[in-house]
Amino acid sequence: MRIAHISDLHICGKHKRENISKVKKLIQHALENGAQHFVITGDISDNADEKDFNVFKEVLKKFDLYRSDKTTIVIGNHDIFGGPQTAQDVFNFPAKCMNTNYHEKIAKFVDHFKELFENTIRPHDELYFPFAKVFKDVLLVGLNTNAEYSRFKNPFASNGQVSKVQRQFLKMILLKKEFDEKVKIVLTHHHFYPKNVASHSSEGTLWNKIENYTMKLRGKKKLMKTFIEHDVKLVLHGHSHEMKEYYREGIRFVNSGGAVENHMKDSIGMFLINAFPFEISTDVLSLPVKTRTKSQEKIIVSLAS
Ligand SMILES: [Fe+2]
Repeated sequence: MRIAHISDLHICGKHKRENISKVKKLIQHALENGAQHFVITGDISDNADEKDFNVFKEVLKKFDLYRSDKTTIVIGNHDIFGGPQTAQDVFNFPAKCMNTNYHEKIAKFVDHFKELFENTIRPHDELYFPFAKVFKDVLLVGLNTNAEYSRFKNPFASNGQVSKVQRQFLKMILLKKEFDEKVKIVLTHHHFYPKNVASHSSEGTLWNKIENYTMKLRGKKKLMKTFIEHDVKLVLHGHSHEMKEYYREGIRFVNSGGAVENHMKDSIGMFLINAFPFEISTDVLSLPVKTRTKSQEKIIVSLAS
């Protein structure tokens, strides 16, 4: 199966309209290059706004991809807590996060995109994650790696955590006899970089820089152990805005977090994954984009509002 992996779309009709056309361009390009399935590993929206979820839904519909057999998504921190757009938002962000009902937001996200969660395997009816989808040779397992807000442990709402319960249900899925021969691919939002390896992040907005210092995934070691024990071959993720492929303990990791927003500014891209039983290979595709000046953006925003 040929999978197009795109992440961190940060769609925001109000402040980042250019991301919508970037996403359309990427999808078109992926289809022209033989993509059979799309995986989006979180931060679909920039600000957890339903209007922006709708924009993405419409984009998928336009390409006939708004179907569970064509597209798989997991949730990112921005899809739950959003992010600050203005200086005033930065000030108000902790209170906003504190008043965000984490579990309700996850339920709403899954309900909003319910057609993409059809025909999934869920070990527990009341838990949306983990879920699994089976294709011919491939098993996709989606996790929710976002931690709940905490003033001390997760002050910017960007850290990750995978609960023991979620890990146990993940094991239940991976242990199923019928999946023995499948290529096992796990989808997360957060990365698995070693402690001392920072992401690119000297670039981007101040908020991006802050986020990059506070994007740990708690429970990573235990999760890695589960991946190793159950023969997970590949992990697809985003969160850190760069394109990167790396190995840890023999497992291949692909980060497409820089697909739409990245330090290159004039290009967008994606990973194309060829997932077959005895071979996994990846290609990076990139596309040039024209960036608009701030004043051009202002005109577009004022016309749109
Ligand atoms: Fe993120």
